[in-house]
Amino acid sequence: MKLIDGKLLAANLRQEIAEKTAALKAEKGIVPTLAVILVGEDPASVSYVTAKERACIEAGMNSKEIRLPADVPEDELVSLVSSLNADEAVDGILVQLPLPKGIDAKRVVDAISPEKDVDGFTPENAGRMLIGEECFLPCTPHGVIKLIEFAGMNLSGKHVVVIGRSNIVGKPLAVLLSRKETNATVTLCHTGTKDIAAFTRIADVVVVATGRPGTLTGDMLKEGAVVIDVGVNRVADPTAAKGYRLKGDADFDSCARVASAITPVPGGVGPLTITMLLWNTLESASRKAT
Ligand code: GUN
Repeated sequence: MKLIDGKLLAANLRQEIAEKTAALKAEKGIVPTLAVILVGEDPASVSYVTAKERACIEAGMNSKEIRLPADVPEDELVSLVSSLNADEAVDGILVQLPLPKGIDAKRVVDAISPEKDVDGFTPENAGRMLIGEECFLPCTPHGVIKLIEFAGMNLSGKHVVVIGRSNIVGKPLAVLLSRKETNATVTLCHTGTKDIAAFTRIADVVVVATGRPGTLTGDMLKEGAVVIDVGVNRVADPTAAKGYRLKGDADFDSCARVASAITPVPGGVGPLTITMLLWNTLESASRKAT
Protein backbone atom coordinates (compact mmCIF):
# COMPACT_ATOMS: atom_id res chain seq x y z
CA MET A 1 0.00 0.00 0.00
CA LYS A 2 1.34 3.39 -1.05
CA LEU A 3 0.66 6.67 0.74
CA ILE A 4 0.07 9.49 -1.73
CA ASP A 5 2.13 12.37 -0.34
CA GLY A 6 0.12 15.55 -0.86
CA LYS A 7 2.58 17.55 1.23
CA LEU A 8 5.43 16.71 -1.12
CA LEU A 9 3.45 17.53 -4.26
CA ALA A 10 2.22 20.79 -2.69
CA ALA A 11 5.79 21.75 -1.76
CA ASN A 12 6.99 21.09 -5.34
CA LEU A 13 4.16 23.11 -6.87
CA ARG A 14 4.54 25.95 -4.38
CA GLN A 15 8.24 26.17 -5.25
CA GLU A 16 7.31 26.53 -8.93
CA ILE A 17 4.62 29.13 -8.08
CA ALA A 18 7.10 31.11 -5.93
CA GLU A 19 9.63 31.17 -8.80
CA LYS A 20 7.02 32.38 -11.29
CA THR A 21 5.79 34.97 -8.77
CA ALA A 22 9.34 36.29 -8.34
CA ALA A 23 9.77 36.49 -12.13
CA LEU A 24 6.47 38.38 -12.54
CA LYS A 25 7.62 40.87 -9.94
CA ALA A 26 11.10 41.27 -11.46
CA GLU A 27 9.94 41.55 -15.07
CA LYS A 28 6.63 43.38 -14.78
CA GLY A 29 6.62 44.85 -11.27
CA ILE A 30 3.46 42.90 -10.44
CA VAL A 31 2.98 41.27 -7.02
CA PRO A 32 -0.03 38.91 -7.06
CA THR A 33 -2.48 39.95 -4.36
CA LEU A 34 -5.20 37.85 -2.78
CA ALA A 35 -7.97 39.43 -0.70
CA VAL A 36 -9.31 36.99 1.89
CA ILE A 37 -12.60 37.77 3.61
CA LEU A 38 -13.47 35.94 6.81
CA VAL A 39 -16.80 36.62 8.50
CA GLY A 40 -17.21 35.45 12.09
CA GLU A 41 -14.95 33.18 14.12
CA ASP A 42 -15.73 29.60 13.13
CA PRO A 43 -12.57 27.82 14.36
CA ALA A 44 -12.08 25.67 11.24
CA SER A 45 -12.55 28.71 8.97
CA VAL A 46 -10.10 30.77 11.07
CA SER A 47 -7.46 28.08 10.68
CA TYR A 48 -8.06 27.67 6.91
CA VAL A 49 -7.88 31.41 6.34
CA THR A 50 -4.72 31.74 8.42
CA ALA A 51 -3.12 28.93 6.39
CA LYS A 52 -4.15 30.61 3.10
CA GLU A 53 -2.68 33.95 4.20
CA ARG A 54 0.56 32.33 5.31
CA ALA A 55 0.87 30.39 2.05
CA CYS A 56 0.46 33.64 0.06
CA ILE A 57 3.28 35.34 1.94
CA GLU A 58 5.53 32.29 1.59
CA ALA A 59 4.98 32.28 -2.18
CA GLY A 60 5.97 35.97 -2.35
CA MET A 61 2.41 37.21 -2.86
CA ASN A 62 0.48 39.87 -0.97
CA SER A 63 -2.34 38.83 1.30
CA LYS A 64 -5.01 41.39 2.12
CA GLU A 65 -6.86 40.11 5.16
CA ILE A 66 -10.34 41.33 5.93
CA ARG A 67 -11.92 39.92 9.08
CA LEU A 68 -15.44 40.98 9.93
CA PRO A 69 -17.84 40.23 12.80
CA ALA A 70 -20.53 37.57 12.28
CA ASP A 71 -23.26 40.23 12.39
CA VAL A 72 -21.90 42.31 9.51
CA PRO A 73 -24.82 43.36 7.27
CA GLU A 74 -25.04 41.44 4.00
CA ASP A 75 -25.19 44.70 2.02
CA GLU A 76 -21.89 45.78 3.55
CA LEU A 77 -20.26 42.51 2.44
CA VAL A 78 -21.57 42.91 -1.08
CA SER A 79 -20.23 46.50 -1.18
CA LEU A 80 -16.87 45.30 0.09
CA VAL A 81 -16.71 42.71 -2.70
CA SER A 82 -17.64 45.41 -5.24
CA SER A 83 -14.85 47.67 -4.03
CA LEU A 84 -12.33 44.80 -4.24
CA ASN A 85 -13.58 44.07 -7.78
CA ALA A 86 -12.69 47.65 -8.68
CA ASP A 87 -9.32 47.65 -6.89
CA GLU A 88 -6.58 47.28 -9.52
CA ALA A 89 -4.14 46.02 -6.90
CA VAL A 90 -6.31 42.98 -6.06
CA ASP A 91 -5.97 39.90 -8.31
CA GLY A 92 -8.01 37.37 -6.37
CA ILE A 93 -10.99 37.57 -3.99
CA LEU A 94 -11.88 34.75 -1.65
CA VAL A 95 -14.88 34.73 0.69
CA GLN A 96 -14.38 31.92 3.18
CA LEU A 97 -17.42 29.64 3.37
CA PRO A 98 -19.63 28.86 5.15
CA LEU A 99 -20.89 32.36 5.92
CA PRO A 100 -22.81 32.89 9.18
CA LYS A 101 -26.55 32.18 9.23
CA GLY A 102 -28.64 35.04 7.91
CA ILE A 103 -26.16 35.98 5.18
CA ASP A 104 -27.04 34.88 1.66
CA ALA A 105 -23.75 33.27 0.58
CA LYS A 106 -24.92 33.00 -3.01
CA ARG A 107 -25.52 36.73 -3.26
CA VAL A 108 -22.06 37.49 -1.84
CA VAL A 109 -20.20 34.96 -4.01
CA ASP A 110 -22.11 36.03 -7.12
CA ALA A 111 -20.91 39.59 -6.51
CA ILE A 112 -17.27 38.52 -7.08
CA SER A 113 -16.01 39.46 -10.52
CA PRO A 114 -15.38 36.22 -12.48
CA GLU A 115 -11.91 37.59 -13.40
CA LYS A 116 -10.99 37.64 -9.69
CA ASP A 117 -12.91 34.54 -8.60
CA VAL A 118 -9.86 32.43 -7.75
CA ASP A 119 -12.05 29.89 -5.90
CA GLY A 120 -13.91 29.19 -9.16
CA PHE A 121 -17.24 29.45 -7.32
CA THR A 122 -19.14 32.00 -9.46
CA PRO A 123 -21.77 30.77 -11.93
CA GLU A 124 -19.61 32.17 -14.77
CA ASN A 125 -16.58 30.04 -13.85
CA ALA A 126 -18.67 26.96 -12.96
CA GLY A 127 -20.42 27.20 -16.33
CA ARG A 128 -17.18 27.69 -18.22
CA MET A 129 -15.68 24.63 -16.50
CA LEU A 130 -18.72 22.57 -17.48
CA ILE A 131 -18.36 23.40 -21.17
CA GLY A 132 -14.55 23.23 -21.18
CA GLU A 133 -13.78 26.93 -21.62
CA GLU A 134 -10.89 28.72 -19.97
CA CYS A 135 -11.73 29.51 -16.35
CA PHE A 136 -10.51 29.36 -12.78
CA LEU A 137 -10.94 25.75 -11.68
CA PRO A 138 -12.21 25.17 -8.12
CA CYS A 139 -9.18 24.50 -5.91
CA THR A 140 -9.96 21.18 -4.21
CA PRO A 141 -11.13 19.31 -7.35
CA HIS A 142 -8.16 20.76 -9.26
CA GLY A 143 -5.88 19.56 -6.44
CA VAL A 144 -7.37 16.06 -6.63
CA ILE A 145 -6.61 15.94 -10.37
CA LYS A 146 -3.01 17.04 -9.68
CA LEU A 147 -2.64 14.37 -6.98
CA ILE A 148 -3.89 11.65 -9.31
CA GLU A 149 -1.37 12.74 -11.97
CA PHE A 150 1.39 12.88 -9.35
CA ALA A 151 0.60 9.34 -8.22
CA GLY A 152 1.26 8.25 -11.80
CA MET A 153 -2.28 7.03 -12.43
CA ASN A 154 -3.74 7.01 -15.90
CA LEU A 155 -7.50 7.21 -15.45
CA SER A 156 -8.43 6.75 -19.09
CA GLY A 157 -11.10 4.06 -19.22
CA LYS A 158 -11.02 3.65 -15.44
CA HIS A 159 -14.11 3.76 -13.25
CA VAL A 160 -14.02 6.50 -10.62
CA VAL A 161 -16.71 6.70 -7.97
CA VAL A 162 -17.11 10.11 -6.32
CA ILE A 163 -19.09 10.14 -3.08
CA GLY A 164 -20.62 13.53 -2.30
CA ARG A 165 -22.31 16.04 -4.61
CA SER A 166 -21.28 19.41 -3.13
CA ASN A 167 -20.83 22.40 -5.43
CA ILE A 168 -17.30 22.84 -4.02
CA VAL A 169 -15.96 19.30 -4.52
CA GLY A 170 -18.11 16.39 -5.73
CA LYS A 171 -19.99 17.95 -8.65
CA PRO A 172 -17.05 19.86 -10.21
CA LEU A 173 -14.74 16.88 -9.68
CA ALA A 174 -17.14 14.59 -11.55
CA VAL A 175 -17.04 17.07 -14.45
CA LEU A 176 -13.22 17.35 -14.46
CA LEU A 177 -12.64 13.58 -14.28
CA SER A 178 -14.92 12.97 -17.25
CA ARG A 179 -13.17 15.53 -19.50
CA LYS A 180 -11.43 13.95 -22.51
CA GLU A 181 -8.00 14.72 -21.07
CA THR A 182 -8.66 12.54 -18.01
CA ASN A 183 -11.18 10.28 -19.73
CA ALA A 184 -12.49 8.46 -16.67
CA THR A 185 -15.94 6.91 -16.40
CA VAL A 186 -17.52 8.62 -13.41
CA THR A 187 -20.28 7.59 -11.03
CA LEU A 188 -21.48 10.28 -8.63
CA CYS A 189 -22.93 8.81 -5.42
CA HIS A 190 -24.77 10.88 -2.82
CA THR A 191 -27.29 10.69 0.01
CA GLY A 192 -29.94 9.53 -2.45
CA THR A 193 -27.86 6.53 -3.60
CA LYS A 194 -29.48 3.30 -2.40
CA ASP A 195 -26.39 1.09 -2.13
CA ILE A 196 -23.13 3.06 -2.28
CA ALA A 197 -21.01 -0.06 -1.64
CA ALA A 198 -22.40 -1.70 -4.79
CA PHE A 199 -20.73 1.12 -6.76
CA THR A 200 -17.51 1.48 -4.75
CA ARG A 201 -16.85 -2.28 -5.01
CA ILE A 202 -16.54 -1.99 -8.78
CA ALA A 203 -14.49 1.24 -8.69
CA ASP A 204 -10.82 1.56 -9.63
CA VAL A 205 -10.67 4.85 -7.73
CA VAL A 206 -12.96 6.11 -4.96
CA VAL A 207 -12.99 9.81 -4.06
CA VAL A 208 -14.82 10.46 -0.83
CA ALA A 209 -16.03 14.00 -0.07
CA THR A 210 -18.99 13.84 2.26
CA GLY A 211 -17.74 15.54 5.43
CA ARG A 212 -18.65 12.43 7.42
CA PRO A 213 -15.91 10.25 8.99
CA GLY A 214 -16.38 6.55 8.30
CA THR A 215 -18.24 7.07 5.00
CA LEU A 216 -15.89 4.62 3.27
CA THR A 217 -14.62 1.40 4.86
CA GLY A 218 -12.29 -1.30 3.53
CA ASP A 219 -15.12 -3.80 2.94
CA MET A 220 -16.59 -1.38 0.39
CA LEU A 221 -13.44 -1.48 -1.81
CA LYS A 222 -12.21 -3.67 -4.60
CA GLU A 223 -8.76 -5.16 -3.89
CA GLY A 224 -6.10 -2.70 -5.11
CA ALA A 225 -8.42 0.29 -5.51
CA VAL A 226 -7.09 3.82 -4.98
CA VAL A 227 -8.69 6.01 -2.29
CA ILE A 228 -8.66 9.81 -2.42
CA ASP A 229 -9.96 11.20 0.87
CA VAL A 230 -11.12 14.82 0.73
CA GLY A 231 -12.57 14.87 4.26
CA VAL A 232 -11.18 17.09 7.01
CA ASN A 233 -13.15 16.34 10.18
CA ARG A 234 -12.27 17.48 13.67
CA VAL A 235 -12.77 14.57 16.04
CA ALA A 236 -12.50 15.13 19.82
CA ASP A 237 -9.33 13.61 21.27
CA PRO A 238 -8.39 14.60 24.84
CA THR A 239 -4.88 13.17 24.35
CA ALA A 240 -4.16 15.59 21.47
CA ALA A 241 -2.60 18.99 22.26
CA LYS A 242 -5.50 20.87 20.62
CA GLY A 243 -8.15 18.56 22.07
CA TYR A 244 -9.05 17.20 18.63
CA ARG A 245 -7.57 15.21 15.79
CA LEU A 246 -8.16 15.49 12.06
CA LYS A 247 -9.88 12.54 10.42
CA GLY A 248 -10.82 11.96 6.82
CA ASP A 249 -14.11 10.64 5.46
CA ALA A 250 -12.53 7.23 4.87
CA ASP A 251 -11.76 4.82 7.67
CA PHE A 252 -8.02 4.83 7.11
CA ASP A 253 -7.02 1.52 8.74
CA SER A 254 -9.59 -0.71 7.06
CA CYS A 255 -9.20 1.03 3.66
CA ALA A 256 -5.38 0.81 3.83
CA ARG A 257 -5.64 -2.99 4.15
CA VAL A 258 -7.43 -3.29 0.80
CA ALA A 259 -6.32 -0.25 -1.24
CA SER A 260 -3.16 -0.06 -3.37
CA ALA A 261 -2.79 3.65 -2.60
CA ILE A 262 -4.49 6.15 -0.30
CA THR A 263 -4.19 9.85 0.58
CA PRO A 264 -3.61 10.43 4.31
CA VAL A 265 -5.48 13.03 6.40
CA PRO A 266 -3.80 15.34 7.15
CA GLY A 267 -1.16 15.56 4.41
CA GLY A 268 -3.15 14.35 1.41
CA VAL A 269 -5.63 16.52 -0.46
CA GLY A 270 -5.58 19.41 2.06
CA PRO A 271 -2.24 20.97 1.09
CA LEU A 272 -3.26 20.92 -2.58
CA THR A 273 -6.38 23.05 -2.03
CA ILE A 274 -4.32 26.03 -0.87
CA THR A 275 -1.69 25.38 -3.54
CA MET A 276 -4.25 25.57 -6.34
CA LEU A 277 -5.57 28.81 -4.82
CA LEU A 278 -2.06 30.28 -5.17
CA TRP A 279 -1.93 28.90 -8.70
CA ASN A 280 -5.16 30.71 -9.64
CA THR A 281 -4.04 33.94 -7.97
CA LEU A 282 -0.77 33.86 -9.93
CA GLU A 283 -2.72 33.13 -13.12
CA SER A 284 -5.01 36.10 -12.47
CA ALA A 285 -2.06 38.44 -11.85
CA SER A 286 -0.25 37.12 -14.95
CA ARG A 287 -3.24 37.99 -17.13
CA LYS A 288 -2.76 41.62 -16.10
CA ALA A 289 0.74 41.52 -17.56
CA THR A 290 -0.40 40.49 -21.03
N1 GUN B 1 -14.80 26.43 2.67
C1 GUN B 1 -14.40 25.13 2.53
N2 GUN B 1 -13.61 25.01 1.45
C2 GUN B 1 -13.51 26.22 0.89
C3 GUN B 1 -12.82 26.72 -0.26
O1 GUN B 1 -12.14 26.01 -1.01
N3 GUN B 1 -12.97 28.07 -0.48
C4 GUN B 1 -13.71 28.87 0.31
N4 GUN B 1 -13.80 30.16 0.00
N5 GUN B 1 -14.37 28.44 1.37
C5 GUN B 1 -14.26 27.11 1.65
